[in-house]
Amino acid sequence: MSAINNQQPKEVVRALADDHSEVDKLIHKLLATLDQENKLQSFELRDLLWARLAVHIRAEHLCLFPSILEVPPVNFIGSGGIPKYQEAKSAIDLLRHDHDFFMRELGKAVNIMRKQETRSDHEVIRKRLLDVRRSIVKVQSRLETHNRLEENHTYKWVNMLLSEAKRSTLIARIRHEIENIPPRFNV
Ligand SMILES: [Fe+2]
Ligand SMILES: [Fe+2]
Repeated sequence: MSAINNQQPKEVVRALADDHSEVDKLIHKLLATLDQENKLQSFELRDLLWARLAVHIRAEHLCLFPSILEVPPVNFIGSGGIPKYQEAKSAIDLLRHDHDFFMRELGKAVNIMRKQETRSDHEVIRKRLLDVRRSIVKVQSRLETHNRLEENHTYKWVNMLLSEAKRSTLIARIRHEIENIPPRFNV
């Protein structure tokens, strides 16, 4: 998205961290909209959140994680902020597990609300909006820890383990993935 245009190769960390901030703002907006029981705007923001998180996760799965794990194991020296190879692999497995959780919870939110899109019973809608809110809060809470782990560790490994040329390729690929959001969401 616009926040990561024109960045230098070394700024892989900032590009992904900026995207975290944008997703976080979107979650706050969605929660406020759910609190106002604004069903239509909640549908739109729910879809946008799903799409934004999906492209972010895809960029990490397809570009970031393989770039780290393709570094020769001998370079994982286990000091100076660089983990041992097995530690890096375990951390990335954990992050992947979180990603599955995020998409599963957001999928639930989509399904809960989809059932209600044609209903007009106020009490039923209200209860379902609360169910959605619970799912979004779960995502928000786990995302906070997840993003901290990425920003304080995983993203920084890129600068320590990859050459400038490889970082340059990586940032271009990440940018491509994050910008590759369906046009209807590109606001
Ligand atoms: Fe992630
Ligand atoms: Fe991330």
